[in-house]
Amino acid sequence: MIMDEMIRAAEPHVLRRIWVISDLQQAYPERATHCMTQAVSDFLRMDRRVDAICYLGDSVEGHDLGFIHEMSEMQARELGKIDAPVYYAIGNHDFDYFAFHREHLPGMVIPFMEYMKDKPQWHMPPSFLDMMYTVDMGEFVMCLLTDHADPSGRWYTTHGCVRGDEAAYPYGVEDYKKVWDRIAAIPKPVITLSHYSFAGGNRAAPLFDRYLPLP
Ligand SMILES: [Fe+2]
Repeated sequence: MIMDEMIRAAEPHVLRRIWVISDLQQAYPERATHCMTQAVSDFLRMDRRVDAICYLGDSVEGHDLGFIHEMSEMQARELGKIDAPVYYAIGNHDFDYFAFHREHLPGMVIPFMEYMKDKPQWHMPPSFLDMMYTVDMGEFVMCLLTDHADPSGRWYTTHGCVRGDEAAYPYGVEDYKKVWDRIAAIPKPVITLSHYSFAGGNRAAPLFDRYLPLP
């Protein structure tokens, strides 16, 4: 009811609609299935078109490949009921599988992304090495600041810090400045999205301090 009033009041000002979700992570898939099926059915009942779904990480939790596969299949099916592209940013729990099995893995692997990568609805960072990817929404551009990783598995980032072999992390202040320059060069309003916040927000990411002050 409050939602209905808010939507009605905002309606005349709306250019685009984006559904932002994250952290479906559950150790037991049936709990996540309960949450996701309810959320999608609520969403469909609102009968509102969205232009994009931004999924800001932690889609799964833990290292059980069976659970992760079940979570992936369920999320592809449920979000597949909504006619909008999904833009994914990596979060810390997406590395749970790798962190647990790393000694037996030839390199970085995120099973959820592996599952989604060929699905046309789903858009992921083009490479594990990418710190950001952009989505042009017409009136504005979305910059998804994502956790990133060494394809060979020596390091990965979570919570704005480098895990694993920190000395092998290839990005210095000047590399962050290049991303900053890319954002500054966008001739439209920009919305940044991430699993983490900038300083001052909830669970701020120290590596993001290199972007401050924002353009
Ligand atoms: Fe998280």
